[in-house]
Formats: sequence, C-alpha cells, structure tokens
Amino acid sequence: MTFLTVGLLPPERGRVTYGTRMDFAPTPENEQIREAAYKFGQNEIVPGLRDRDREAKSDRTMLEQMGAAGFLGVSVPESYSGLGADYVSLGIVCEELERADTSARVALSVHNGLHSMTLMQWGTEEQKGRWLPDLATGKRIGAFGLTEPNAGSDAANLKTTAKKDGDSYVLNGQKAWISLSDYADQFLVITKLAEGDPAKPRFAAFIVDRTTPGFSSRPIHGKLGVRAGNTGEIFFDNMRVEADRMLGGEGDGFKVAMSALDHGRYTVAAGAVGIITACLDACTKYANERTVGGEPIGRKQLVQQMIASMVQGREIGRLLYYKVGWMKNTGQRHTRECSMAKWVNCAAAFDAANKAVEVHGAYGFCDEFPVERYFRNSRGAIIYEGTHEIHTVMQAEYEMGYRSDKPLKHTLPTWPFDA
Ligand code: CAA
Repeated sequence: MTFLTVGLLPPERGRVTYGTRMDFAPTPENEQIREAAYKFGQNEIVPGLRDRDREAKSDRTMLEQMGAAGFLGVSVPESYSGLGADYVSLGIVCEELERADTSARVALSVHNGLHSMTLMQWGTEEQKGRWLPDLATGKRIGAFGLTEPNAGSDAANLKTTAKKDGDSYVLNGQKAWISLSDYADQFLVITKLAEGDPAKPRFAAFIVDRTTPGFSSRPIHGKLGVRAGNTGEIFFDNMRVEADRMLGGEGDGFKVAMSALDHGRYTVAAGAVGIITACLDACTKYANERTVGGEPIGRKQLVQQMIASMVQGREIGRLLYYKVGWMKNTGQRHTRECSMAKWVNCAAAFDAANKAVEVHGAYGFCDEFPVERYFRNSRGAIIYEGTHEIHTVMQAEYEMGYRSDKPLKHTLPTWPFDA
C-alpha cells in the first residue's frame, strides 16, 4: 500500500491536489470488479470478435449483456439503481473491457461517461429520477452529440440550433461521428440557441429521445477501426423537445459539453491501458513460442525493449487514470489531469500496438492474430474526445498559465454515494 502526502511538497501552479492524500492501492471492491470485467470481456466479447470486426457487425446484444452484468451503472448511486461503485472502478471496467475489444469500451464511454455521468453532474432531482435508473440497468441506452461535420476540435462552431417555441424548443441540424447512433434510445445533444447575438453564441444541452418525430440516424461505413461498434450521424428536422429536457440552463450548453468530456476522456484514458495490456498478453505469448536461431524471440534484447516499453506505458497509464478517478471520488476539478491521462495513454496505446505488430512480424499484418486490430483501434482514440494536438495545446496552456481550472458550480457527486 502506498501513501503519498503531496502536502509536504511545494505547490505547483494550477494544481488542486496540494495538501491532500492519494492512495493508489486498489480496494477489494476494485479487484472484484476487475475480475468480473476481465471474465466478461474474455467470455462474452472475445468469442466471434474477429468475424464481427471483419464484417463490421454490431447490434444491441452486447449492450444488453453489459446492462445485465451491471456495467452500464458501475458508478451510478444505488439509489438510482446503479452498482454504487467508485469512479476508479469505472476506469477499471473500461480497462478490462477494452482489453477484450475497443467497441465495448466505447459503448461504456458514451453511455456511462458522456451521458449518465453528465446527467449526474447537471441533472435536477426530477431529471435524474426520470432517466438514471433505466440507464443504470441498461433498459435505456444513452449517447452523446457534440461533434458536427464542421465542428470537431472547434466544438463551439457547432451549427445545430434550438429555437424556443412556447414550452419547448425546436431543434434543427446534424451531428457526426456519433457512437451508438443507431442503438441509443436517448442522446445528450449540444445545440446553439437560435435567439441572441450571433457574434456571442449561447448554447443549450438537451436529452432527446430517438422516438421523437424529426429524429433520424444513419450509420458510417468503412471505418479504419472499432468496426465491431456502431458509429454514425444523427439528424434533427424540426424536432420538438420539451423545455424540461434541458440540462442546466440556457447558456450552459458548452459547459455541459466540456464536463461530459471530463467523464468521457477519463474512460478513454483507462481503456487505453487495456489495449496496452492486450498487446502484452499477445506479445508475451507469441514471443515465448516463436523461435529464431534456436531460442524464443522473447530472449532477443530488441524484442525485450519493445515489451519493456509497453510495460512502461501500462504502469504510467494506470497511475494517471487512477489519479483522475481519485479526484472524481473526492470532488476535485480534474479537467487538466484528465486531459493529461487521455493524451499520454492514447499515444502509449498506439505505440504499444505498433510495437505489438512488429513483435509478430508478418503475422502481425493479418487478422490471424489480434494485434492488427489493436493497431487500428488504438489509432481512433488519438482523434476522438480531443485530438492529440488539442491535448498538447491544453497542457502547454495550463503550464504557461493561459488556462486554469476554476471551481465548478455543478459538480459530480463525490464517492461514497448516499453517505
Ligand atoms: N467543465 C465545466 N465547465 C468547463 C469545462 C469543464 N470541463 N471546461 C471549460 N468549461 C467552461 C469554462 O470555465 C468557460 O466558462 P466561462 O466562459 O464561464 O469562463 C467555458 O466553459 C469555455 O471554456 P474554455 O474557455 O476552456 O473553452 P475553449 O473555447 O478554450 O475550449 C477547447 C477550447 C478546449 C479546444 C475545446 O473546444 C475542446 O475541448 N475541443 C475538443 C472537443 C472534443 O474533444 N470533441 C470530442 C467530441 S466527443 C467524441 O469524440 C465522442 C464520440 O462519440 C466518440
């Protein structure tokens, strides 16, 4: 067990951990959840995966299984029908499910991170009571809509509008690169308010149902990776949404989006560690079995160098996301730390997957072995939920003092819940 009393160290600019204690030891509950998620991944996700990936085949079955196992409500309070586990446990589930396949972790990121946790942070009691129990048990699936064809990194450039009309808003526009676009029952959608000064746009976030007239979706085909997962576009054509579906108030939409990313990026960072572990699983086995010059290639120092580099990525990555999980548990603002974890871990995962292909030689170039899939899947995470470049700039800006994390008005519930 390791205790670090950072209060003894000099403060660093912009950091919020000064004077508090960090405990990196996983709890028995964390370990139990890791084992359950590992078994689920290997028993329910891995079988048939190569074919699903080849055929780009996905359906709701995996989501239903994840719901039945409790993974869709890991860090949702028991009072809202969730498991009530801490936020580190959610990271661990993401890690173990991505060790099986990225598509499973993406579903968790979107449903648990971007949707449910943002509802936990911003929702009124009535809104949480209305949606969280069904989300936590997988009766309903939630997704997130921020990105548009011309608004990715420049999220504030979004064009989807919400026009107030009596007790409701009328939505028009389009979102792109939406995970679970064809399966989610409800979407947390970020819109621009139609009224007001166009030079100073104001945003609003709504939870909308796919059954509402005016909603439609269309899958995106031909993706480089995450082929066993569903990604697409969603459209709003004069879609009428009641005002009580707004999260936060008029003008809060961009903040809702940014806080959603604090949760989504956390799950992506944790999942990236799972890809590295999967690369290690594959490479240690292969490098022990494959011989060159009468000895396993694992005895060759250049192969060992690649294995060691993956181990380094796994260990650093785990510490980075555990820290963010601990900050969520203790109610500290963690945008900077979360960006760091996502930035570092996704780059390490892609590097590990590239090395894993190298260790496998020609066999790494075909889908007889899983490492080519890890290579394709890990590439995506360097782009979604903030590109590598966005996080590079954010980290430089924090360090230079151009960006800082102020305390938030709406915060995620701290853990233990219901205490
Ligand atoms: N929580 C709450 N509020 C926040 C916040 C957070 N994490 N981050 C910022 N805010 C608030 C700020 O305090 C500020 O409020 P005030 O105006 O009251 O001061 C306001 O939001 C604007 O914040 P910034 O000044 O930081 O905004 P910015 O314009 O500088 O942001 C940016 C620039 C950081 C690059 C941002 O646009 C960004 O993160 N872009 C990347 C978008 C992204 O990651 N997209 C991924 C889409 S989701 C996806 O990929 C999912 C999928 O389905 C696969």
